[in-house]
Amino acid sequence: MKRRDFIKNASLTGVGLTVGSSLLSCNENSSEKTKTNTIMALNDLKAPIAICTWGFVSANAKAGEELSKGIKALDAAIAGVSVEEDNIKNTTVGKGGAPDREGNVTLDACVMDSNGDCGSVVCVENITNVAALAKRVMTETPHVMLAGSGAEEFAYSQGFESDNLLTDSSKKVWEEWLKSPEYKPLINIENHDTIGMLCIDKDGDIAGACTTSGLSYKMKGRVGDSPIIGSGLFIDNDIGGAVGTGMGEEIMKTVGSFLIVELMRNGMSPQQACKEAVQRITRKNSHFKDFQIAYIAINKSGDVGSYCIHKGFTYMKYQNGKNENIHSDHYVKS
Ligand code: GLY
Repeated sequence: MKRRDFIKNASLTGVGLTVGSSLLSCNENSSEKTKTNTIMALNDLKAPIAICTWGFVSANAKAGEELSKGIKALDAAIAGVSVEEDNIKNTTVGKGGAPDREGNVTLDACVMDSNGDCGSVVCVENITNVAALAKRVMTETPHVMLAGSGAEEFAYSQGFESDNLLTDSSKKVWEEWLKSPEYKPLINIENHDTIGMLCIDKDGDIAGACTTSGLSYKMKGRVGDSPIIGSGLFIDNDIGGAVGTGMGEEIMKTVGSFLIVELMRNGMSPQQACKEAVQRITRKNSHFKDFQIAYIAINKSGDVGSYCIHKGFTYMKYQNGKNENIHSDHYVKS
C-alpha cells in the first residue's frame, strides 16, 4: 500500500494520526496570521538557499546548484548530503564512516519535505546513500521509519546496491581503538559528525535531510538523533526548519530541532531559537563541557541562525551563487 492510500484509509477507519492532528491544531488559531506572514516572507525571500552543518563545501555547493536549476528543496538536499555519503574520506557519514565497537558500519538518516511528510532509516548496513533510502521509505511505504535488516532489504527491493562501508583506513583506526577498548564513544567537538542540510527552493518551499554514521565505536544497535524526526531534523514549511549535530542523546532528550521550529513559530529569530535550544541542554546537564551540540536553522524569509556549545562549529550557506563557510557563536567562551 502506498503512503497516501494508507493515510487515507487511516483517516477513514478512524486510526488516529494524533501527532499530525495536534500539530495542525496548534496552527489553527494563528492560521490567517501565518498565511499573511508566509506571503510577506515569500516577497522578501532571496531563494534558493542551502545551508548545512560543518564545512561541507562541495555538498552545499551541490545542493545550491540543484536548487538553482529549479530542483525542489528535498531532492536538492538529498543530492547535497549524498556528496558526503559517497566521500570515503569522511569518517562520520556514509561509506568510510567509523564502525561500532564490533566493527560494523551502521548508518542513520532522515528526510522531511515541505508538505510535512518524512522518512527515516536507522542502523542500516551495506547501503551508502541512506538519505535517498529514507526518501523511498517516505514515498514508497505507508511508514516513516525502517530499521536494520528490514531497511536494508527494502533498499535492495528499490534497486540500491550493496556496498562494503568499512574502508581499509577506517578499519585500521578501529583496530587501533580495540587495543584499549574502554567503552567511551567519541564525539568530535571541533570536527564534523553529521551532515544536516536545509534548503529553500525557488518556490519558497523548505525541506531537509540529515545523515550520519553516528558515534564512533558506539554500542551495537545504538541510534542517535540524526534519523529521529524532531530531534536531528524538523521542518514546518509555514515557519522554517532546523537540524542538529553533536551528541545525539542530548539532542533527543530536548527534541532539539522541533523545539527550534516551535520557538521560531513563537517569534524568535533562527539565531535566538538555536541559542535557546542549546541553553536548554546546558541548563539541564552539568556535564555539557564534555560534548558538542550545534544547531542551524532557517526561517521562511531565508534568515539563518546557528549556535553551539563549543567554539569550532561552522556551517555552510549558499545564496545568490555564493557558498560561504560561517563560524557559529558558541556558549563556552573560555
Ligand atoms: N549526531 C549524531 C549522533 O549522535 O549519532
